[in-house]
Amino acid sequence: MELMEAIRARRSIRRFLEKPVEEEKILAVLDSGRLAPSARNMQDWRFIVVRDQATRQKLAVAAKDQQFVAQAPVVIAACGTSNYIMTCGQPTYAIDVTIALDHMTLAAASLGLGTCWIGAFYEDQAKKILGVPDDVRIVALMPLGYPAEEPLPRPRKVIGDIMAWEHW
Ligand SMILES: Cc1cc2nc3c(=O)[nH]c(=O)nc-3n(C[C@H](O)[C@H](O)[C@H](O)COP(=O)(O)O)c2cc1C
Repeated sequence: MELMEAIRARRSIRRFLEKPVEEEKILAVLDSGRLAPSARNMQDWRFIVVRDQATRQKLAVAAKDQQFVAQAPVVIAACGTSNYIMTCGQPTYAIDVTIALDHMTLAAASLGLGTCWIGAFYEDQAKKILGVPDDVRIVALMPLGYPAEEPLPRPRKVIGDIMAWEHW
């Protein structure tokens, strides 16, 4: 699938088929994250791929009982391992991991897979479930699987409302 087509086709998917995701497709999705840019090219990230049903169920509970997290055959926990703050004041870990994850959502869409960004989760609980060290942050959870729904596009602001030429 061509890039703009994947950008337009991607939706947040919250219902998944029981069909497992082929390992080569999981690795292709992760590879698109691996190729993402990162501050100083540090690549301070680690992606935990969870297929175990019991662990997915625990993560769903940590995600405020969003049960579709457990229903997806794969959940990726996207972790940032740096505490570097850039000159602009932004922490690199959240930005780097987010860019990589966005690559992954688009790669997944191009492979016919669905994803949903999960920000509503208790990080301390998720870290305990996955054995993530104290100094590492989990930026997001991302269920991945074959979609069992075809949601309509969610509304977006028009371009004139979100941009300006030359000045604020
Ligand atoms: C940072 C972030 C956090 C989100 N957290 C959740 C979440 O916890 N649960 C959920 O169902 N959707 C979550 N979403 C998905 C958004 O609701 C969704 O992207 C938005 O409604 C637009 O829909 P679309 O992705 O289908 O275009 C999150 C999205 C982002 C970018």
